[in-house]
Amino acid sequence: LFSTVEMAPRDPILGLNEQFAADTNPAKVNLGVGVYYDDNGKLPLLKCVVEAERQMLEAPKARGYLPIDGIAAYDKAVQGLVFGADSDVVTGGRVATVQAIGGTGGLKIGADFLKKVNPDATVLISDPSWENHRALFSNAGFPVGTYPYYDAENRGINFAGMLAAIDAAPAGTVVLLHACCHNPTGYDITGEQWDQVIASIKARNLVAFLDMAYQGFGDGIAEDGAVIGKFVAAGLDFFVSTSFSKSFSLYGERVGALSVVCASKEEATRVLSQLKIAIRTNYSNPPTHGAQIVATVLTTPALRTMWEDELAAMRVRIKEMRTLLVEKLTAAGVQGDLSYIVRQKGMFSYSGLNKDQMVRLRGEFGVYGVDSGRICVAALNTKNIGYVADAIVKVM
Ligand code: LMR
Repeated sequence: LFSTVEMAPRDPILGLNEQFAADTNPAKVNLGVGVYYDDNGKLPLLKCVVEAERQMLEAPKARGYLPIDGIAAYDKAVQGLVFGADSDVVTGGRVATVQAIGGTGGLKIGADFLKKVNPDATVLISDPSWENHRALFSNAGFPVGTYPYYDAENRGINFAGMLAAIDAAPAGTVVLLHACCHNPTGYDITGEQWDQVIASIKARNLVAFLDMAYQGFGDGIAEDGAVIGKFVAAGLDFFVSTSFSKSFSLYGERVGALSVVCASKEEATRVLSQLKIAIRTNYSNPPTHGAQIVATVLTTPALRTMWEDELAAMRVRIKEMRTLLVEKLTAAGVQGDLSYIVRQKGMFSYSGLNKDQMVRLRGEFGVYGVDSGRICVAALNTKNIGYVADAIVKVM
């Protein structure tokens, strides 16, 4: 049965972790996967999470099956965070929200549901995009194309190209958009540009699917989520997948959600029933622990403030690392304008290094980034940044 099974390539992002773990270089630095580490290079355990777990331990609960769509209080808290508790779509019952296994789970449930209601559509992702977007929608049965995004020459976004591609897409096309902190480039379009994208999506009858895995890592929780309000204001039906992996440093708990904004409450009820089928046939129902932590934090005012402060501290530290990286690269002799590193948002910097240079960074220096040139600046710290900058300069 398995004699002709081919060896699959290593995952371009998570596969690096395996290679990193096996590397014996004592100076190695993992800038591959999108994970935030503190200034001591440690994965943080947020205080709000510890406190929520302490409260959960004080009133221990047996672990029955959750409803297929997850913990009700969690789904409600997600809606409050993503849309605002007072948003018309929330108070009007027009959003179908389900707990999902991380942001990836939200994308997958959305993709499976879309394949049923919009089977002949093409999915457009940004060029470049998170490596898993293409694979995930392809596996759900969609042809996946791209819209222009990164402008290598000008170190920014080819917005004219992006808009032209969206304008040219046939009705029903699913357009996958990064709500904030674009992965992998770190370049986000402006509010005005969002308005143009939304107008085009509306005029062309396209389907927007927003991936919001990094809310709070750009300019702030509200600022990063502002684009959602624009889609709501435009009166569109759309999808939003959210993740708390990064913002709660709960990577291993796989806490995410999918929200589908519908035209009416009645429509949302029908959509929810279909999302539940997608969940049931993929993994039956979601796990309890991580979502309970997030629900507790988001609905307990003191814990929520604590979380917002801890997330702000992560955001600020990443920005400091961006500035410091520019300083170190400049001091190490790199010529030219490096301000793009500070302009980029979120965990990543698209360094402009090519695959050969990334391979050299790994092989010669134990500095791991993605072959596309993406490096995770959230894993830089005051101790490793000088070493990383020197290594980058040597491969340039
Ligand atoms: C990343 O892009 O590194 C993260 O989203 C983690 C992942 O699953 O790829």
